[in-house]
Amino acid sequence: MKTILFMATSINGMIATKNGDENFLSNANWQSFSWNVKESGCFIVGRKTYETVQKWTEFNFDNLEAKLKIVVSSDKDLELSPSFLLASSPKEALEKAEALNFENVILAGGSTLNSAFMKENLIDEVILNFEPTIIGNGIPLFAEADFEKRLTLTEAVQISDGILQVRYLVDGRVG
Ligand SMILES: NC(=O)c1ccc[n+]([C@@H]2O[C@H](COP(=O)([O-])OP(=O)(O)OC[C@H]3O[C@@H](n4cnc5c(N)ncnc54)[C@H](OP(=O)(O)O)[C@@H]3O)[C@@H](O)[C@H]2O)c1
Repeated sequence: MKTILFMATSINGMIATKNGDENFLSNANWQSFSWNVKESGCFIVGRKTYETVQKWTEFNFDNLEAKLKIVVSSDKDLELSPSFLLASSPKEALEKAEALNFENVILAGGSTLNSAFMKENLIDEVILNFEPTIIGNGIPLFAEADFEKRLTLTEAVQISDGILQVRYLVDGRVG
């Protein structure tokens, strides 16, 4: 099973403003994300991302077509909407998806969970949608953590007026 990190980012690598606002992301990005989630059938998010996005009114994770929606949290009593499954670690999240025979899973942030996966070398591919924005004070793609990874660029394509989508394989993973 392949783990694909899918994130939208400012050109300087910020995924939200410091207060968690994502208003700089376009509808085209959400469509691209929705399509990738539908293709995979499964996505995984951190507890803070789940809580942030579920407050949105126009679209949120309930609108996404996915057979399995996983939230990672160390809180074993965390209450989730009925369509979500709780996992206590990145590895447990992947085990739950693997048990249902998914070919690919989409890891969809945020910053802290991305680093937890990367630190454990659990990411095979990275897809970034670069929005035409620069955010001076924001939440980075990866929270500070002790790792360094090399990637291989596989594709770069303009998918809308503003978005450059770039794909990488993580070196040393099967892909
Ligand atoms: N631009 C984009 O594409 C995009 C995508 C996703 C999110 N975002 C933004 O990113 C921000 C959230 O990022 P964030 O870094 O603050 O939070 P996050 O990564 O979404 O969630 C962090 C939480 O996930 C759980 N977690 C993370 N690693 C874990 C591990 N190894 N084991 C167990 N639980 C773990 C913990 O939950 P507990 O504290 O409950 O244990 C932790 O507090 C939001 O503003 C969101 O809007 C942007």
